[in-house]
Amino acid sequence: MNLVEITLDGRNVMVPDGVSVFDAARMHGIPIPTLCHLQNETPVGVCRLCVVDTGARVLTASCVRPVEAGMKVVTNSEKVLNARKTLLELLMADHPSPCARQEKSGDCELETLARAAGITQPRFAKRTVSRGKDDSSLAIAVDHDACILCDRCIRGCDEIKNNFVLGRMGKGYGAGIAFDLNAPMGDSTCISCGECMVSCPTGALTNKTVVGTSIAAGPDAQGFEAEELLQLPVFQGVSGTFLELNRGAIVKRRFRAGEVICREGEFGSTAFYVLEGKARVSLSAPIAHVKTQGGAGGFFKKLTSSLAARDSDVREEEARDRTIPIDASVDLAYGNPVAELGPGDLFGEMTCMNFYPRSATVIAETDVVAFEMLRNVLDIMMKNKSFRAQVDQNYRRRALESHLRGVPMFADLSPEFIEHLKKSVDLQRFAPGQVIARQGDAARSFYLVRIGFVKISETYPGGELVLAYLSRGDYFGEIGLLGGGVRTATCTALDHVEVVRISGNDFREMMERFPSVRQGLEAVAAERQAANQQRMQTVRSVPIDQFLSQGLMEAQSLLILDLQNCTRCLRERMCGCARRNHAAGARRFAV
Ligand code: FES
Repeated sequence: MNLVEITLDGRNVMVPDGVSVFDAARMHGIPIPTLCHLQNETPVGVCRLCVVDTGARVLTASCVRPVEAGMKVVTNSEKVLNARKTLLELLMADHPSPCARQEKSGDCELETLARAAGITQPRFAKRTVSRGKDDSSLAIAVDHDACILCDRCIRGCDEIKNNFVLGRMGKGYGAGIAFDLNAPMGDSTCISCGECMVSCPTGALTNKTVVGTSIAAGPDAQGFEAEELLQLPVFQGVSGTFLELNRGAIVKRRFRAGEVICREGEFGSTAFYVLEGKARVSLSAPIAHVKTQGGAGGFFKKLTSSLAARDSDVREEEARDRTIPIDASVDLAYGNPVAELGPGDLFGEMTCMNFYPRSATVIAETDVVAFEMLRNVLDIMMKNKSFRAQVDQNYRRRALESHLRGVPMFADLSPEFIEHLKKSVDLQRFAPGQVIARQGDAARSFYLVRIGFVKISETYPGGELVLAYLSRGDYFGEIGLLGGGVRTATCTALDHVEVVRISGNDFREMMERFPSVRQGLEAVAAERQAANQQRMQTVRSVPIDQFLSQGLMEAQSLLILDLQNCTRCLRERMCGCARRNHAAGARRFAV
């Protein structure tokens, strides 16, 4: 290594040729403050806080300036200190103080440097136009106002983790960081590894505190270190610091054989990932059928329903090998609602993400070791490609066929075509409010709802007309594919939604090869279109001013879900009670 001689604050020193002035000073124990520069990363020289005097016309950023033989460097003259102080004042004028990081842990690097420089009141006017916040990620909060554009998060994302999600957007006063092409963080391809957050020097990217973020430990919980989690393939690539910060959001539990892991009907906010052992998943509530009276006896008699035991009211759908979907990668057979879960299985995803009650009871069959986690940790796991692939693979292998067969008109699909679909369908996830398909766009896919609720609506001048709410077992997208190839309605995720997407090509092949499926879907499409038209006529019969003044466009349907009342009657496909006035009242519409 070639050494060169330079002068550092009046001292003659030898330093490796080509190192930065910043590194040369550090080697000789002279501290220079930095904001945008992190050791071992490519320096970008954007904050200019590391300025030093090298005798040139202007001060120079030491993190990007290589040393030269004979260079005379002054790091602490009044001129240098005043320049740094002015820079800090300018940055503080653009910074909400205290920012989220300063408030939480008191270690915002900018505010710490400003305090050390004696800056209490910045001389410059504060920013008046907000650059906004982004609350869409479950794990990380984004405050664009606290961002000082140091690019540390971008280098963390791109250079350290090679995820290439973060970049810059805008110019000048409006410049900021952006996820993908400026998508909300939660909708972007961000995998929540947390590297951007641990790289950020301010409160622009902070760990999101989930309400009640600590899971009660209990006697069955075992302690573990973040390193132990990092050994698991599902956490590889996640920042250790980030896992440390989320320590309370995941516990490792040991359940003895026979112990209840979670109970059907109970509300929860956690999911379980089985590490060792076998568990039995079953339904404890007896399956009953809802019988609507109908017949003579007046209007109210017709609306009266009662529960009937299964054996006294045999249903045609039971003969078709129907299954009951639950919150796991298996479905339960209607005739014998029991299944087994083992290592690598995840259950409780819907409960965790959407706060639904538990859909089944899970009991340890042997001793079981499992991770129990809150939604911010589950979100990190679900964004891990290998874990996601494993969960999807389990679902394809164990539940997709019954899900497809659960659509009555798919009953005639050949086993060979079902096998083809099991390999070719896409399993897609959508965050609350995300649009799955937009009215007017080209229709390219057919969707089956796997998890969550989807709103179907049409947009008209004056507002949105809600046509339907769909849930697991329902499907959408056939009208556009069978009609003119254009989406006639917008389909939006109401909560965390997962869908099975069948491509337009597979859909067309299915229509050609299985005429009964085509007839069934065409009949449903015609029925849905007629119902939509009728709804539209009702809307048109109200004068538009009255319509808007009463807010009717927005309030066409109010969906009330009481999943505790669901009796799994399977009448008229899943959750038909909205349309049928079932006594269970698990799902009701009101106008
Ligand atoms: S630390 Fe050198 S320019 Fe920011």
